[in-house]
This record gives sequence, structure tokens and C-alpha cells, in this order.
Amino acid sequence: MLLECIECKAQYPDTEIIYTCQRCGGLLDVIYDYSKIDLRVQKLKQPPSVWKYASLLPIKMEPVTLKEGGTPLYKCDRLAKKIGIHELYVKNEGLNPTGSFKDRGMTVGVSKAIELGMKTVACASTGNTSASLAIYAAKAGISAVVLLPEGKVAMGKVAQALMHGAKVITIRGNFDDAFRLVRELCEQREFYLLNSINPFRLEGQKTIGFEIIDQLGWKSPDRVVLPVGNAGNISAIYKGFSEFKRFDIIDEIPRMTGIQSEGACPIFNAFSKGARKIVPEKHPETIASAIRIGDPVNAPKALLAIYDSGGLAEKVSDDEIIDAQKSLARLEGIGVEPASAASIAGLTKLREKGVIQPDERVVCITTGHLLKDPEEVIGVCGKPMVVEADIEAIRAVISNEDSVEYLGAVLQSVR
Ligand code: F0G
Repeated sequence: MLLECIECKAQYPDTEIIYTCQRCGGLLDVIYDYSKIDLRVQKLKQPPSVWKYASLLPIKMEPVTLKEGGTPLYKCDRLAKKIGIHELYVKNEGLNPTGSFKDRGMTVGVSKAIELGMKTVACASTGNTSASLAIYAAKAGISAVVLLPEGKVAMGKVAQALMHGAKVITIRGNFDDAFRLVRELCEQREFYLLNSINPFRLEGQKTIGFEIIDQLGWKSPDRVVLPVGNAGNISAIYKGFSEFKRFDIIDEIPRMTGIQSEGACPIFNAFSKGARKIVPEKHPETIASAIRIGDPVNAPKALLAIYDSGGLAEKVSDDEIIDAQKSLARLEGIGVEPASAASIAGLTKLREKGVIQPDERVVCITTGHLLKDPEEVIGVCGKPMVVEADIEAIRAVISNEDSVEYLGAVLQSVR
């Protein structure tokens, strides 16, 4: 196993603590000697999980694990009908140990940190990465330092990082500032950087791709739609699909379809121009705080994934995100945080535009749990009403309650 620069192809041993190419500054990828890998995962009877696919992961020791992955893939017929598509699945990554897909990356990333003998791990985060880093550091018995943008991280995520014992530092700046600073901090060798610039972390996240194929009976969907922030996940999942194609498990790689928020959409802008490089945005803003990122570090890998798979990028407004979040919650019983709902909002928009065809088999990935961001929920649903402890008062509010009307409208749309 080696690290290889995606730009100049320079190679480095996997024991070297580097995050980018020493020669050209390019992103690194983990390269295996595939001829030595016995990939008969199809034959394994065990249910999907990150470590079911251990032969394609870069860890030799017993991993630091809290049983991540194996998240459900739901067939969502009512939502499909509303959107106008025949076959729609939702891969609900909110059901990982900390409630986001980051756990897949961190079980691998923190295991690597232990293999390398590191005693402190660090990250910048819009929230979920910090929660995940905190639990795996706790499980491994090492320290975690996390840098968060002040006032921009959902409360559930901060609570997780605090409770699991990470050193939580809030900076007066945005995620991109926090990321620049944590990179500088990790130039000191005692801090191991576990943002998605770390190629080992992304190896864990590629198992989302493996599981989708596994759960669809070893067949690939036509398209995978997911939110894009720092752009690691779309790159990782594309790599997972590419590896399964290499092993002839699938014939075609699904079209990788990345969704960003209108207020933070450098990847969408680059894609619209057919470019391979992004222009960073200085003041990203969106209700989907998890993807409030103006300078995504993995942009070169993500754009490659999109172009090579015949996919695309789209942007959605905050209102479209909120609508999608409510539809998913109320039609399918799947509660997600706003960033996750961007995938459903993007699919809806691309169907309306006629870019996605009704007969496509689509998997949307929902990346984080509803309970991550309870303040947003109160903001968009309103506070629960308060009435006297009196049956007539209760009957009165039930008969003219807004949410009952809203649900009625949604249900009408799928009848
Ligand atoms: N969805 C959620 C819920 C996220 O937390 C993130 C990223 C993304 C989507 C985007 O994934 O960065 O791989 O493109 N959250 C990071 C964090 C940035 O710090 O928790 P990506």
C-alpha cells in the first residue's frame, strides 16, 4: 500500500505522515496492490458494515470501532411519487454511531493514527467531523482537538464533541479559516490531521459505495445524489464504485451527482463552466451549516468523480432544502439535518428541469441525523403550541393547526 499524488503521481510510503504531495502540493490517494487482494465480499454472508470490506481498507491492526456503517437503504415510494421518479432509495447515514457518515472515515482514520503511534488527533469542522473524531479518540484513549467556526455549528454536534472529551476551540472565523489553522497546527508532528484531506479517512467513507451495491443485490444504481461541502465524500464514494468496477462486481459507475447550497457552491460554479478548478468563495452562507464551505479542499477529486462518471453538480436554495427536509420526514419517516436534505432538494430540482429521467434508479444519501440541529427544526417548524390543561382548548387547536394543513397538502400531492 502506498500514497500517490493524484496530480504528479509521486509516491510515498503509507507510514509517512503527510497530507499532500511534497513535490507539487496535490491531493493524495491510497493505492493498493489489487492483484494481492482477495475480494469475495459478495460471498460473505455477514451484513454490510465498514469492516466487512477490510481487505480494501488501509489498516493492518485491530481497528478502533464502534460498529459503524451497515446503515439502512430505504426504498422510498411515496417520496418517489412526489418527485416523479420510479425507483428511489435513501441511504440513511444518520444512523451511524454519532449520527453522521463521518464515523466511517473516523474508524479508519483514528485506527491509522494509532498505527502511526499518534497521541493527539485534530480537525476543523462544521460540526459532524468533530463529533465523530471525539468518539473515536475516546474509544482509542487518545486526545482530540477540534476547531469550530463560532456561532455556526449546530448544537447537537457541539454537545457530542464536548461530552466525549475533545478539546473544543471556537474561532472567530468561518470553517475555511478553521481548516487553514488546523493544517498549520498539524505541521507540528504531534497532531494528526483527520479532516478529509487525510486520504486514509476517505478510505472508510468509500464503503458507502460498497454498501449501496451490496444492498441492491450486487447491482449498481444509475445515479447517486449527495450533498457536497468539503467534497471528500463524493470523491470517496466514487473511489468505492471504481474499485468494485475494477473487480468486475459492477459494470457501470453510477453518475455522481453533487448538490451544494446556493450560498456556498464553488463546485457547482466550476462544473457549470466545465472547469477542473474552483474559485473559492469568501463568505459562504446557508441554513445547511454542515456544508457552509467556500474553499473545499477535495475539489479536484470531486470534479474528477463528477466528470468521469458522467454526473453533474447542482445548487439549491435554503427554501428548497427545508421543503425537501419536511417531505422526507413526513412522507418517509426519515429525519435528517438540512445538509442531508440538499440531496433530495437537488433530485427534485433536476427532475423538474428534466435533467434526471423518471426511469432512472436513484440513490440519495442522507448524511446526518435530524437531531444534530434541533434549533433549525424549531426555526422552520415553529415552537410547539402551549395551551391550558383543558380538553376544549386542545380540541380547538387541533382543528386549526397549521402543520395538519401542511401534511394534508403533502399527502394530497402523492395521491
Ligand atoms: N453532510 C453533512 C451532514 C456533513 O456534515 C458534511 C460535511 C457534508 C454533508 C459534506 O461532506 O465535506 O465530504 O463534502 N461536514 C464536514 C464537517 C465538513 O466538518 O463535519 P463533504
